[in-house]
Amino acid sequence: MRTQEHIPVRLQDYRPYPFSMSHVSLVFDLHPTRTIVTSRLIIDRKPHEWAKGEALSLDGVGLELLSVEINGQPVSAQDYQLDENGLTLKIVPDSFKLETKVAINPAANTALSGLYMSAGRFCTQCEAEGFRHITFWPDRPDVMSRFHVRVEAAESAFPTLLSNGNRVAIGRYDDGKHWAAWDDPHPKPSYLFALVAGCFDTLEDQFVTRSGKTVELCIYVDKGAASRAIYAMDALKRSMKWDEDVFGREYDLDVFNIVAVSDFNFGAMENKGLNIFNSALLLADETTATDADYEAIEAVVAHEYFHNWSGNRVTCRDWFQLSLKEGFTVFRDQEFSADQRSRAVKRIKDVKALRARQFPEDAGPLAHPVRPKSYVKIDNFYTATIYEKGAEIIRVLQTLVGRDAFLEGANFYFAENDGTAATIEDWLHAMRSATGNQLHGIERWYDQAGTPCLEAMSDYDAANQKLTVHFKQSTPDTPGQSSKSWVPLPISMAFFGPDGEPLKLHLADTDVAADDWLIPMASTSLDLHFDGVVDRPVVSYMRGFSAPVRLITNHNVADLALLASCDTDPFVRWESTQSIARNTLLSAAKSLQAGQEPQVPEDLARVFQGALAEATRDPAFAALLLRLPEVSELMQLQPLCDPSNLLSARAFVRSLLAEQLDAELSACFAIYDPAQAFSASAQAAGQRALMAACLDLLCASGTNRAAMRAENTFFSARNMTDMMSALDGLSQFGGPRYHTALAAFKERFSDNALVMDKWFRVQAMALCEDPLATFKRLRADPGFTLLNPNRVRALGGTFASGNPTAFHQADGAGYQAIADLIADVDGTNGALAARLGTVFESCSRVNEPRQSLAKQTLQALLDRNSLSANTREILSKIYNGLIS
Ligand code: TRP
Ligand code: ZN
Repeated sequence: MRTQEHIPVRLQDYRPYPFSMSHVSLVFDLHPTRTIVTSRLIIDRKPHEWAKGEALSLDGVGLELLSVEINGQPVSAQDYQLDENGLTLKIVPDSFKLETKVAINPAANTALSGLYMSAGRFCTQCEAEGFRHITFWPDRPDVMSRFHVRVEAAESAFPTLLSNGNRVAIGRYDDGKHWAAWDDPHPKPSYLFALVAGCFDTLEDQFVTRSGKTVELCIYVDKGAASRAIYAMDALKRSMKWDEDVFGREYDLDVFNIVAVSDFNFGAMENKGLNIFNSALLLADETTATDADYEAIEAVVAHEYFHNWSGNRVTCRDWFQLSLKEGFTVFRDQEFSADQRSRAVKRIKDVKALRARQFPEDAGPLAHPVRPKSYVKIDNFYTATIYEKGAEIIRVLQTLVGRDAFLEGANFYFAENDGTAATIEDWLHAMRSATGNQLHGIERWYDQAGTPCLEAMSDYDAANQKLTVHFKQSTPDTPGQSSKSWVPLPISMAFFGPDGEPLKLHLADTDVAADDWLIPMASTSLDLHFDGVVDRPVVSYMRGFSAPVRLITNHNVADLALLASCDTDPFVRWESTQSIARNTLLSAAKSLQAGQEPQVPEDLARVFQGALAEATRDPAFAALLLRLPEVSELMQLQPLCDPSNLLSARAFVRSLLAEQLDAELSACFAIYDPAQAFSASAQAAGQRALMAACLDLLCASGTNRAAMRAENTFFSARNMTDMMSALDGLSQFGGPRYHTALAAFKERFSDNALVMDKWFRVQAMALCEDPLATFKRLRADPGFTLLNPNRVRALGGTFASGNPTAFHQADGAGYQAIADLIADVDGTNGALAARLGTVFESCSRVNEPRQSLAKQTLQALLDRNSLSANTREILSKIYNGLIS
């Protein structure tokens, strides 16, 4: 059993399914502990030689088989094989009807995959392999059918009955049961199936498509929560419009339904016509949601909606192609948010997220290509690499071919592959044929793991007025992969003179002169020569983060300061500020380690001063400039680091900045008016973010005055964003002020689980007092539960990734605490436990005795026979990557 779970699925083993299943009719007789599912399939053997004589094998896990019939005749037990993975019928006709009847227990389903109960309602999650927990079926994305679904349940407890597509009939029985029939005209794979039954309030609206069709929109939420869905509804309508305007994609059903559930393993799911959302990514109002929540809701509503084309109309042939839908759809939602808000700010936030989550993944034991070659549990491959690096590859492609050609290529891809299960090759083929660009080497972005490193060295020869820029790229070895080749890199570049003015340069031996450059690098190294260069220019590289690489330059601090203040590209301005900050923090860490008082140069303070001086021009951007790199980011820059040393350095530099910039920070903080009327707009959110960044730095001074500011902000806050900013500030101090605020917060929001998640998170991240003791107190809190993924992530995920010095405590107690939590969660929800397990990835970057202690802790977990295959896959990869 244990060994069987470990057999990996390999891309090279792909074979098409030998049968087609044109239609399926499902009947759900819903009962919380015993639901009966009847499935009637129309099956035809495919007319190919290789399909002849093939057995019919159907996936099915944890199903109680009640009956099997072929063409109305019962199949006796000796004519089929039933095991823990499914049902096989060795000999079947070429065309037939198959009926199976099974019983399942939704109330006992704590893994939240398949049909389960959440807050007294039925709901489903079928991606990636949940449908096999519902009925016998070829549970793979390349088998597509038209679904007709009949849902029956007790009317009083389950007044709303939903499935995919359009509702075609309803009815009532005399025994208190009612039913609804749903028909989805678009053939789809099983992972896009959904069913919901329960009692809801609704928010309804309409959207008229560009061809004049009216679509009924409806969001289903908890009783009393409809007003908190208004923002999501607005985001949905904007998404529908945007996909028409930008990608030419129109919606294709009469209804679009969204349901919010509180127990959900992920953010949300794009089931055809019936998206299901984690309520954390749907419900918002100013008193319960932060600006970050609003932003995430807008992005995820768009993401799931955009899947209707990139994912549903064109789906994936197999799960190795996952990034075909996810990378592309993330790219699409990023572009949507950029258009709705500030493009520059969105880009910086996306790069921050990529560096915080994907770069460490790509540099550690879990590194894998965007198109992996094998997996054990597909749930474990819904990663930052598949999603965020996948989106970066799409962006690289767009940059290489140009925006207009890219949109034409996308259009061609949708047209060519509509209604099919496609591959990444199909995508590249469409792009190549529509744009005429051969995109040489682009496959390597999909096949090679590891973040490419780009060295860019500029060399100015004053005597000859020449500038040479040398580029060299390399991709590091990753587990199971070495000797990598170059990838096509679009290098966006500009030059600035000593006065900060943009320079127009001339490329030697050509007639090309320009002030903005896009160099498509398609080799390991590349030298560019410019002549007639009068002054030494400062080169601005990778503008807009034109490719997902680690960039190494020979900029000195003056160059960085010049770019930080003068670059016309906001991304490079932010990046240059970050570089100065990183260098300052790392050298402070070195001094502290050597037992010396760090000598902090004034550069960073000067750059911050500049940012504060013009902060009101673009508050959201200024707020980003004022945030120092986190300890977790610094950990990536130092092999075998001591996280507590990095934290001390960060605290030292922060308190110094707070002292040096007290006047400017206080003035900027004072501009904010906490009583102003709330707006969720990006502009208003920017003002709040700027206030929060100032308060955060002011609190680093440790002064009583700063603590009082945070306290006043907390008690005068009119919205959740300000309240959380203040609570974050107070958490830097600890003590009675902090605890009084926490108690007031709990008192006010104890009946709102989503807000209480924030209460758990702020404490799990807090550096004051003893973070591990806090973690243990919260685990024992009556509000903590292993059954709600949001709560588990709010405490466990936040502590392990947001409080790195406590997690990596030198005595190993942080590792043990998280290992205990993983073991407990694994008993009910293996996919959630495995995801939590990924936090141990950071252990390959810490020094002794930490790494050995982490290894021992993982060893003990892996010794447990009961560990789920999901968690085992993740933890054993991490274990193998640790030294000792
Ligand atoms: N396809 C979903 C998305 O990105 C992801 C998802 C939702 C998922 N629920 C899941 C993936 C459960 C695996 C398991 O929009
Ligand atoms: Zn998605």
